[in-house]
Amino acid sequence: MNVKNIKTICCIGAGYVGGPTMAVIADNCPHINVNVVDVNEERIQLWNCKDLSKLPIFEPGLSDIVGRVRGRNLFFSTDIESSIKNADMVFISVNTPTKIKGIGAGKASDISWVEECTRQVAKYSVGETIVVEKSTIPVKTAEAVKSILSSSDSEKGSSFSVLSNPEFLAEGTAINDLQNPDRILIGGEHSSSIEALKNIYLNWVNQDKIISTNLWSSELSKLTANAFLAQRISSINSISALCEVTGANIDEVKRAIGLDKRIGDKFLNAGPGFGGSCFKKDILNLTYLCEHFGLPVVSNYWEHVISMNDWQNYRIYKMVIDKLFGNVSKKKIVILGFSFKANTNDTRESPAISICKNLLNEGAFLSIHDPQVNRIQVTSDLGDIGEENNSNWSFSNDLEDIFDNADAIVVLTEWDIYKKIDWNSVNLKLRKPAWLFDTRKIINPEKINNCDLNFWQVGLGNNIL
Ligand code: NAD
Ligand code: UGA
Repeated sequence: MNVKNIKTICCIGAGYVGGPTMAVIADNCPHINVNVVDVNEERIQLWNCKDLSKLPIFEPGLSDIVGRVRGRNLFFSTDIESSIKNADMVFISVNTPTKIKGIGAGKASDISWVEECTRQVAKYSVGETIVVEKSTIPVKTAEAVKSILSSSDSEKGSSFSVLSNPEFLAEGTAINDLQNPDRILIGGEHSSSIEALKNIYLNWVNQDKIISTNLWSSELSKLTANAFLAQRISSINSISALCEVTGANIDEVKRAIGLDKRIGDKFLNAGPGFGGSCFKKDILNLTYLCEHFGLPVVSNYWEHVISMNDWQNYRIYKMVIDKLFGNVSKKKIVILGFSFKANTNDTRESPAISICKNLLNEGAFLSIHDPQVNRIQVTSDLGDIGEENNSNWSFSNDLEDIFDNADAIVVLTEWDIYKKIDWNSVNLKLRKPAWLFDTRKIINPEKINNCDLNFWQVGLGNNIL
């Protein structure tokens, strides 16, 4: 077995996966040159920005690593052609969103970006190249990738080996997840290329954590992991609704079930429903695959995880309206948090988007706060309703002056700064009767004991006026 010694890597896609993953590889492998390329010039400019606070992605710990390795063995550029030509290994880390038209629209993953990069690899690569699927893709995508690559082999004497190496990082903890992964999964057919990729990870990951499978198990394991994680959130959210009407407390239930080692205590926080670019799209993709392979019952089973999530989001919006006497027209509502979770500036599929749109639609004035998201992103996420009503919402990265005369505050993201708010002083600024809705269960009720403030928390029984 001749294991290739990887000296140069090209990663196509400088997004939330490509950027942090390659930064961590470059940091741990000073002997490997890592070139991250993207068609998005603006994104690449930001990755190259001297001011590290301007990186296109906010991720704790990321700017330190980029500051350390950028220009040493980590490079960002739009020169896709020469990066591919020089690479021994190419990672495909591009977006794979849900298809919006054609067969499978609304469910199947759109792999057109993956296909486009594969064609570029086929065209520009020289000699022997290992192609690594980092993007999350439908099972059997490697078949298409292999087929495209093999059609170019004969023409210029290049050869390819395809690996699946799904990424399991979560945003907000990406650097720690990459640095200390629970496992590294490598699917492939050729032991020499599996070994070549494994050797990269061995620079910082213990070999017990590196597992290899066939291509299809690897592709399917990624979808399955996300489906199981999302299912846990829908399960706990479903119970949060039951807690609220029975007098149980979701924190107590969570603790009681989490102590059972078979269940475990992680990923059991009730909230406004899961967001993020992947859970929904990956479950939809899974349901589409099940239908395609003639398993409609399995498809329906997973679809319920999404309907439960949609319902949780809707019921929170409806509850805000109900508590405010069924009318929020011209009432000021402060929204605390717009990113889909804390410690990221990513708003893709954020539960805040649909809740804000629904409240705007009811005629409310929204004062939106998030420490990392910017106004341009909020404007784009609110779309038509935001544009039409741009006098009906304001945005700030600062907590100062956002509470004046508000009728309600809705905590939608679990940012640490919200845990430290002095509610006694905020309370004085509100128009009464006022409400505080905590959809993340991050506010200690004792901190509002002295406030004449109505308080609602997700999953808390006896939520009272
Ligand atoms: P992203 O949208 O942040 O980044 C993708 C990048 O690819 C974009 O910058 C885009 O311009 C670029 N791109 C698209 N086509 C290109 C082409 N032909 N040539 C060069 N660049 C191209 O997406 P992401 O969040 O990084 O996700 C990428 C993949 O990783 C998806 O399949 C996703 O499901 C998966 N994933 C994401 C996460 C996450 O936390 N975001 C975690 C694990 C896996
Ligand atoms: C998720 C997975 O955790 C990663 O393993 C996976 O690699 C990634 O998707 C992906 O494929 O994109 P991510 O979406 O970044 O990562 O973040 P999570 O921590 O999983 O949170 C997802 C959503 O669930 C967030 O809206 C979060 O607030 C919500 N959540 C999470 C809860 O409501 N409760 C919890 O207990 C945990």
